[in-house]
Amino acid sequence: MKVLVTGGTGFIGSHTVVELQLAGHDVVAIDNFENSSRSVLDNIAKITGKPVVFEQADIRNKEELKAVFTKHSGIEAVIHFAAYKAVGESVLKPLAYYENNVGGTVNLLQTMAEFNIHNLVFSSSCTVYGNVEANALPITENSPVVKANSPYGNTKKICEELLQDCAKASPINIVSLRYFNPIGAHDSALIGELPMGVPNNLVPFITQAAIGKHQSLTVHGNDYPTPDGTCIRDYIHVVDLAKAHVKAIAFRSSNNYAVFNIGTGNGNSVLEVIQTFEKVSNQPLTYTIGPRRQGDVVQIFASCEKAINELGWKAERSLENALETAWKWEQHLSQ
Ligand code: NAD
Ligand code: WQD
Repeated sequence: MKVLVTGGTGFIGSHTVVELQLAGHDVVAIDNFENSSRSVLDNIAKITGKPVVFEQADIRNKEELKAVFTKHSGIEAVIHFAAYKAVGESVLKPLAYYENNVGGTVNLLQTMAEFNIHNLVFSSSCTVYGNVEANALPITENSPVVKANSPYGNTKKICEELLQDCAKASPINIVSLRYFNPIGAHDSALIGELPMGVPNNLVPFITQAAIGKHQSLTVHGNDYPTPDGTCIRDYIHVVDLAKAHVKAIAFRSSNNYAVFNIGTGNGNSVLEVIQTFEKVSNQPLTYTIGPRRQGDVVQIFASCEKAINELGWKAERSLENALETAWKWEQHLSQ
């Protein structure tokens, strides 16, 4: 299948381009390099042995999008990663997030319709579930989508809603994948997460602290109602996540719209992640317990039964392996 990947040089997009190419698909990647670099393309090619067909384009610019679809005929499906994703930043710059994440998605859908392209896989997020009660875990796709607690989360909620409306109004087949917490990097350590500035996310901060970029790590609260008092998340290896997209582009649903949780089905606390990292890296971590971080969900992890039964996809890699690859990637970055 010929697949267009928006945000194709980003963290998840780059790993997905690799898996698509290894699965024999023809890939056209686009990106505007706002949160990634062109060097990712060379590293993808080193992994797959195939050059990446790439166009620099901004999904907010319909003319640029149209030019890509005109130049690359025969596209059968689109995987849409391109977005801004920093929760805290979205609170400070809401309009930039609505323009890029929602406006960009509308532009993409309109252009797909002009070119009669009827298959889309959308990057959604478990953030749409908000804070969930312990008795509602593991969380299923039927769990309620709640009022978002950030403009970023709201852009994902709005995009899911507009995609459902499109699926009702036109012959487009849409799959929304609700990612839990993607971590890790490719085994080659040639691609991984490239956080710009000080990372907000736990795992890149851990690996940067371990390599010496930060004096210590702050655990945001240990007084939560969880076994060790720290928040629990479903950390999924980015390669497992990438493979879910290879399955998703081939999925067709009876009512043209389907949602899948993409996680491991396991929950791990912040302290468990720290301890696991220390074990696999043999790098002791210095951390302090700080105050709770505003907006943090106490605990969430996925039920992935639907993806297993309907997509034929299941996460295969362990937390240990994800942290090993994250550490190898951090060491590669520091070379
Ligand atoms: P990322 O920032 O690494 O990748 C996004 C890519 O899109 C970047 O390369 C960026 O340059 C590009 N981009 C942004 N705006 C663009 C625009 N207007 N035109 C063209 N390219 C543009 O982020 P990621 O972690 O790979 O996330 C990919 C998708 O998955 C996003 O939609 C994000 O919201 C979603 N998601 C991420 C996580 C996570 O924890 N990483 C979790 C859930 C959902
Ligand atoms: C995980 C846990 C922190 C850093 C975010 C977005 C979500 C999605 C994935 C885009 C929390 C704790 C973290 C640190 C810490 N992104 N932590 N010290 O918040 O679950 O999800 O990324 O879709 O939308 O909200 O991930 O890695 O930021 O935090 O104690 O230095 O680690 O408090 O409990 P989160 P995270």
